[in-house]
Amino acid sequence: MRFCLNVDHVATLRNARGEAQPDPVTFALMAEQFGIDGVVVHLREDRRHISERDVRLLRELITTKLDLEMAAVDEIIEIACDVQPELATLVPEKRQELTTEGGLNVIDNIKHISYTIERLHDAEISVSLFIEPDINQIDAAAEIKADIIEIHTGIYVNAVGEENIFDELERVRLAAKHAKKLGLGVNAGHGLDYNNMKEFIAIPEIDEVSIGHAVLARALFVGVEQAVKEMIALAKSQSK
Ligand code: PXP
Repeated sequence: MRFCLNVDHVATLRNARGEAQPDPVTFALMAEQFGIDGVVVHLREDRRHISERDVRLLRELITTKLDLEMAAVDEIIEIACDVQPELATLVPEKRQELTTEGGLNVIDNIKHISYTIERLHDAEISVSLFIEPDINQIDAAAEIKADIIEIHTGIYVNAVGEENIFDELERVRLAAKHAKKLGLGVNAGHGLDYNNMKEFIAIPEIDEVSIGHAVLARALFVGVEQAVKEMIALAKSQSK
């Protein structure tokens, strides 16, 4: 399983003082040296953490791959087409939310999402849709030619009790299996950490995880190298 690091909250910390440090680009470059498979950033419409400067510098400097999380809105689509990340992950975005709070409703917004995928494909950018582990949403994603789905793991990571955790993991597993059958790539993310990853890696159909908060939080205590390498070791312990 590949592990891509989301560095949004390095920028949150930087922006808290309105100065230059800590720099999310430097952090991403360090993490690359320790072996991550890619860098993820969410360029939000309100620019609360990552800035356009960060995205453009990352594009220039990183040597793995750039996954740009974004809302399907004109301004950001234009930036994406210009910057050309390897992957654009479409997410729903609400101004009031603390973080992305749920998956995209592909079925209800199929025309607009389909049009956005076409625009990004024209710029030679692969597209991932961040969705719940829901078979109908996955079918819709395949129908409009998404390349990848990213399964929202929020419900799994918040499940309490052995039975609920098992059920949610099973829901993710079935969704991943279904997506694979349709020829989609399968990523996953949201709230994954060093504990819940231990069971998560048992799902062989997950190609890649996108993790931010847990790794950045651990890095504050044990340092970037240890925090990043521990998560890489977990992701690579997946049995295929
Ligand atoms: N994937 C998506 C689509 C997200 O929006 C986020 C949160 O920014 C993540 C993954 C990473 O979540 P976390 O920071 O909880 O690891």
